[in-house]
Amino acid sequence: MDILALRNVSKHFGGVAAVDGVNCSVRQGEIFGLIGPNGAGKTTLLNVICGLADPYQGEITFKDQRIAGKKPWDIARLGIGRTFQIVQPFHGLTIRENVAIGAMFGKKGHEGSIKEALSLADKALELTGLSHRADDLATQITLSQRKRLEMARALAMEPDLLLLDEVMAGLHLTEISEMMEIVKRVNEQGITIFIIEHVMKAVMGISHRIMVLHYGKTIAVDTPERIAENSRVIEVYLGERYAARRAKRLAGSEMGS
Ligand SMILES: Nc1ncnc2c1ncn2[C@@H]1O[C@H](COP(=O)(O)OP(=O)(O)O)[C@@H](O)[C@H]1O
Ligand SMILES: [Mg+2]
Repeated sequence: MDILALRNVSKHFGGVAAVDGVNCSVRQGEIFGLIGPNGAGKTTLLNVICGLADPYQGEITFKDQRIAGKKPWDIARLGIGRTFQIVQPFHGLTIRENVAIGAMFGKKGHEGSIKEALSLADKALELTGLSHRADDLATQITLSQRKRLEMARALAMEPDLLLLDEVMAGLHLTEISEMMEIVKRVNEQGITIFIIEHVMKAVMGISHRIMVLHYGKTIAVDTPERIAENSRVIEVYLGERYAARRAKRLAGSEMGS
């Protein structure tokens, strides 16, 4: 079953078609990766989905409900949470308070009590491995922890679909592995994931399917294995060097087995 479906979605900035006639469906429960060169329209597509890029052309349905034209807070309440490429926590607040604010804008919205918001925050901090920093100020944490804070804030909204925008950018290898585990763990909770990511090892490693965007257009939607071998994707994004390294790695693992 599809949780999200985009039909012929376009978003223009002046004369530039940042997103140009995209059709795609995200299945309930999957990790759906979105890759493509800088400026391909990935972030714009995420903004369109969560209501931050109004107006646009096309039709978007989430859980069989049309969401085109709805405001970001209404879309959040329907069950779409997101992180931002640039992490912006409230500096005067603790990690826990920052995440609790997410809960206030989520499904239950302002009807939930503060106590309930804090309890959702604690759950989200646990899931993102941040419980031990809960009472620290948001200024006192590392980039990796800020990325996880951003994710915890989105999780506290109790989303059915979580949109992630480059949560691995700038992280060290071990931090990337940790983040991959967190994304998988979140997915195992039944949350569908739509992830924009430049770190190939990560997006190839966790996605069930991947869509490649180029100048606002979809050039491929397929399994990671087939995306890695798609000649058009290699040409516009992955590059010949990636393809050669991958072929070498595969040959190596065949010889070893
Ligand atoms: N707010 C904006 N105003 C004008 N142009 C924009 C705006 N946001 C994005 N763009 C343009 O739209 C295109 C896609 O950008 P973006 O969605 O940020 O790409 P990506 O996330 O894939 O790197 C780029 O050409 C970018 O310059
Ligand atoms: Mg972007």
